[in-house]
Amino acid sequence: MNILLLGSGGREHALAWKLIQSSLCSALFIAPGNAGTARCGTNVDLSSTDFDGLKKFCLKEKIGMVVVGPEEPLVKGIVDFFAADPALREIHVIGPSAKGALLEGSKAFSKKFMDRHNIPTAAYREFNTANYSEGVLYLQQHSLPIVLKADGLAAGKGVVICQSHIEAIAEFELMLQGNKFGEAGSKVVVEEFLTGIELSVFVLTDGRNYVILPEAKDYKRVGEGDKGPNTGGMGAVSPVPFADESFMGKITERIIEPTVKGLSLENIDYKGFIFIGVIKVGEDPLVIEYNCRLGDPETEVVMPRLKNDLVELFRATAEQRLDQVIIEKDERIACTIVAVSGGYPGSYEKGLPITGLDTAWPADSLVFHAGTKLQKDAIVTSGGRVLCVTSFAETVYEAVDKSRDVLEQINFEGIYYRRDIGYEFL
Ligand code: AMP
Ligand code: GLY
Repeated sequence: MNILLLGSGGREHALAWKLIQSSLCSALFIAPGNAGTARCGTNVDLSSTDFDGLKKFCLKEKIGMVVVGPEEPLVKGIVDFFAADPALREIHVIGPSAKGALLEGSKAFSKKFMDRHNIPTAAYREFNTANYSEGVLYLQQHSLPIVLKADGLAAGKGVVICQSHIEAIAEFELMLQGNKFGEAGSKVVVEEFLTGIELSVFVLTDGRNYVILPEAKDYKRVGEGDKGPNTGGMGAVSPVPFADESFMGKITERIIEPTVKGLSLENIDYKGFIFIGVIKVGEDPLVIEYNCRLGDPETEVVMPRLKNDLVELFRATAEQRLDQVIIEKDERIACTIVAVSGGYPGSYEKGLPITGLDTAWPADSLVFHAGTKLQKDAIVTSGGRVLCVTSFAETVYEAVDKSRDVLEQINFEGIYYRRDIGYEFL
């Protein structure tokens, strides 16, 4: 089968690396891809939201399956677009319909969905310009800190945690009156702050059945010891030591089961990933957020640990046969460290040559590209998160150490990475 993968980050390089290991994959195309995905298949110069362009490409290359990496095409309705077109209907698109993608695309929708299905999450209220003054009164009486969430997609910047009432009201005003996030901020969810440790849980559902993939923990702050501004993710580990059988059992029973059942009860077409951001408060799991895709950099540890054939898994998803699938995992510990451009998550330079990529790495280390591109014959930086190195070992300490060894041999001007990924589990 010919497969088209959409996206261009480290997540997509890890997916591409995994897809081409399947004997069911005859040809892999990645739109638009990066310099790393170009080593797994053919990069195609098309945006993942150019649905008409993707249609023409799928018909020309006889694509049988489209795997959607990022959330944007899903929220914009790529699944519905393919389902509505007789010429495209037979192509399996891995991802939810636009309605299902609202779990990520609208915080207000996801909170109401959790309410309807008794799924544990932080207490909240929803406000817009119509009940703005009521919102201000609500904020004045709210316990601190206060979590404000822009309703729509805001490139990962839509959540603001406010330490004072003055800050919260100012932020609330910026979102609702100042148009800070544009249309995405036309509704705001005000949420209770939860204290605990976070975990990323990945479910693949066919709309009726589901499987649980290896869980992961990501490290979002730019600085060591979890200090400094938030980023897209500086590293990840899998498995997560506190996600033992008992805790995963609670997540399954209280969160995963009612989520999958809720989608089906509400007739929401969902054949794809559900990424559940879970927080452990005391001994209990609560949902921080849903995403309708895999995480980045979590995928760079989840895919290496997954032993199943990924194309077969996706076929079972499309054909609603996931009840017949058993997930097999590599029991070793995987850790990934992300190397970023100097200045990230603020402004940074692009187009810097990367050296050391053609070294022969140890068998238990993998290099995944994120913000890289080919320029003539050289590979240069093209984003904030440039690449990541995943290593396997028996302990977190050794896995981190192996990834650091590899990173010491890779260089570009201004390269920075955290040396303490997984630090609380050492
Ligand atoms: P999100 O964009 O929903 O992933 O939120 C970004 C981050 O904000 C999460 O990963 C959490 O670390 C934090 N966060 C979101 N909601 C809450 C909450 N209710 N309590 C504490 N932290 C939160
Ligand atoms: N690593 C978090 C995310 O992908 O949203």
